[in-house]
Amino acid sequence: MAKAPKASEIDWSNLGFNYMDLPYRFLAHWKDGKWDDGELTEDATLHISEGSTGLHYGQADFEGLKAYRTKNNDIQLFRPDQNAARMHKSCERLLMPAFPEDKFVEAVKSVVKANADYVPPYGTGGTLYLRPLMIGVGGNIGVHPAQEYIFTIFAMPVGAYYKGGVTPTNFTTSYYDRAAPHGTGQSKVGGNYGGSLLPGDEAHKAGYSDVIYLDPATHTKIEEAGSANFFGVTKDNEFVTPKSDSILPSITKKSLLYLAEHNLGMKAIEGDVFIDKLDRFSEAGAMGTAAVIAPIGGIEYKDELHVFYSETEVGPVTQKLYDTLTGIQFGDVEAPEGWIQKVEY
Ligand SMILES: Cc1ncc(COP(=O)(O)O)c(C=O)c1O
Repeated sequence: MAKAPKASEIDWSNLGFNYMDLPYRFLAHWKDGKWDDGELTEDATLHISEGSTGLHYGQADFEGLKAYRTKNNDIQLFRPDQNAARMHKSCERLLMPAFPEDKFVEAVKSVVKANADYVPPYGTGGTLYLRPLMIGVGGNIGVHPAQEYIFTIFAMPVGAYYKGGVTPTNFTTSYYDRAAPHGTGQSKVGGNYGGSLLPGDEAHKAGYSDVIYLDPATHTKIEEAGSANFFGVTKDNEFVTPKSDSILPSITKKSLLYLAEHNLGMKAIEGDVFIDKLDRFSEAGAMGTAAVIAPIGGIEYKDELHVFYSETEVGPVTQKLYDTLTGIQFGDVEAPEGWIQKVEY
């Protein structure tokens, strides 16, 4: 795998969402019942046993968060403690030993600092995406938790996840389920995403930017998109997002529920979003760390496209939510207490 180009050679304004082998990543090992301290390494290849549970049985979980460069050239993280806490829960679901949450945040900062040249300049829209990953390793063949684990955090500069950026794109509902009613939908575990590749591919081939999954028990309510939660804005100034035990508890969603209420004076609601009652929404979008806020032009359901605000223009409330959220992330809007952590570099 080729090393990343020099930072000075990168076209920051035209970054996609692609893997890049940056100079440094963090790597820690769990063995004999404890984590070692971990260290930064230049080796981008993991050396693991063929009997690793992470390979066979999906004993693998991960996170996704970003580092942002501000106008005065500081580098900051958005709610990394929330990623640490969510990964802890994902680990519990897969019987994996959580990496201590305070050390998780420290390790994220060390990776950002070591690769600081690769945090895109302010104003380009780019960010440094961080991927914490834990896998069960060591020789195993029975369906049992591994005896050893690897925790790594690698990073790469990224631009928009959905090609449209803040331009609306259309989504389609899927015959497939992303998660089971009492399965692993709430956890950020590898298996959920392996199963989403085929539905995602079918949606892309049909010209949609992503899948909107319906609830697996009744197929009547919106759950979430393939890698982002859903929100709708009603004509009565409500911000509505699905409540379900089988969707990923998005940190962006949690943040937007707060900002909709406190910064935009909206009523913020987590509840049922019936797929045949989309008329209640004047705007809709997908929200997540990678997606940020991606306006949804329309959703295809039973061969009909339900258009919300417009297929070509972002709605005014979605735009305000986007400006508020990204303003906080890039340091232009005052953040609620505890949301921003600076990285010394
Ligand atoms: C399935 C799924 N839903 C929602 C999200 C959004 O979560 P967050 O806002 O914490 O990034 C993600 C990850 O980005 C995801 O993979």
